[in-house]
Amino acid sequence: MGCAVAGTGKCLPRLAVSNDDMAGIVETSDEWIVQRTGINIRRISLGESTTDLAYGAARAALGMAVDAEGNPVDPLSIDLLVCMTVTPDTSVPSQASLLKERLGLDNAVAFDLNAACSGCVYGIAVAESMMRASYLVPGRGNDIRRALVVGAERLSRIVDWTDRATCVLFGDGAGSVLLEWRPGRPGILSTFMKNTDDVERVLNRGALYDLSTFPFGRMGERGDALPPQGDEGLAGIHGGPQGVSSDPLRKPFITMAGKKVFRFAVSAIVEAVQVVLERAGVGLEDVALIVPHQANERIISYAAKRLGLPISRFQVSIGEHANTSAASALMALDDAYAAGRIVPGDKVIMVAFGGGLTSGAVLFEA
Ligand code: ACO
Repeated sequence: MGCAVAGTGKCLPRLAVSNDDMAGIVETSDEWIVQRTGINIRRISLGESTTDLAYGAARAALGMAVDAEGNPVDPLSIDLLVCMTVTPDTSVPSQASLLKERLGLDNAVAFDLNAACSGCVYGIAVAESMMRASYLVPGRGNDIRRALVVGAERLSRIVDWTDRATCVLFGDGAGSVLLEWRPGRPGILSTFMKNTDDVERVLNRGALYDLSTFPFGRMGERGDALPPQGDEGLAGIHGGPQGVSSDPLRKPFITMAGKKVFRFAVSAIVEAVQVVLERAGVGLEDVALIVPHQANERIISYAAKRLGLPISRFQVSIGEHANTSAASALMALDDAYAAGRIVPGDKVIMVAFGGGLTSGAVLFEA
């Protein structure tokens, strides 16, 4: 008895932007980007909203899924919709509410979850917990048997297109997974979520939120992202007449301490993988595939080395997608299924890290 992965999906914007295209925007090169990150292209949404991308990914997961009897899944049978995003079309109504309406999930309770790039893992872990609780203690809360978990991002709206150190790294897209409570299937075996609180142990210095910040407030055009703050009124936008604030929490664009995040990321992947294995009593040798957050191919390589695994045991999709935050590992999971890299009975780990700092993993049997 467990929460099974019944379907996956992804959706990408039409516009593909190559590294050479990026070299026309900032001082960079295809060679630097490929060598330092593994990224070849990223997709950028000009016409598509976050809802459009989320809808495409959700439809794909619903289309691929069949229920335990082999029948197509009825959208009205979805009890829960969790949307993970840092770039919703609106904060209220939530991205999940907008998507629920578009999909016609009339019976689903819907809410957003922000754990930055770890969102994909947090979303699955939360949905699984709600399913398990409603099965173990029936009648005490919402009865959740089917859940749609969708990560969707338009990071291009909050990227600083003048900062070569960050703008080459991110892209837009959406990924989704349909979860179903099934008798006779183990499904999700263990989960792990963490908001790092011990900076000394991880990095030896610094405030955690400084390392990777995404802007807070309305997601508008460049420069629109922050509302006026405190007594400063309009001067508060961009930190006043001197330009962008030096306070990382008030900059309107993504900022990142790349090297520190890199070090954190490698440790976070290794820790999260080890914890879910231990919690499930499963050996690393029994895991068919690890599907990590796609932030940098070198991060994945370093983590693979630390775990003593060849890179071939990891799904690497960053070349075509760049970093799509909460959508990233879900899109990679869909790629892995599409490539036939996951077959029934396989044990698979999804693992992610992100701003906050957050990290986590999910171990499931396909
Ligand atoms: N093109 C050309 N040169 C560049 C570029 C670019 N796009 N970006 C930076 N450089 C230059 C720098 O200016 C620097 O030049 P200098 O030596 O003359 O000062 C040089 O390249 C090296 O820069 P570093 O920052 O040291 O490069 P590094 O090897 O650390 O790679 C990177 C940078 C790719 C950002 C890496 O640190 C990284 O991937 N970090 C983790 C990022 C991450 O995972 N982010 C997401 C996690 S959180 C989340 O997703 C929300």
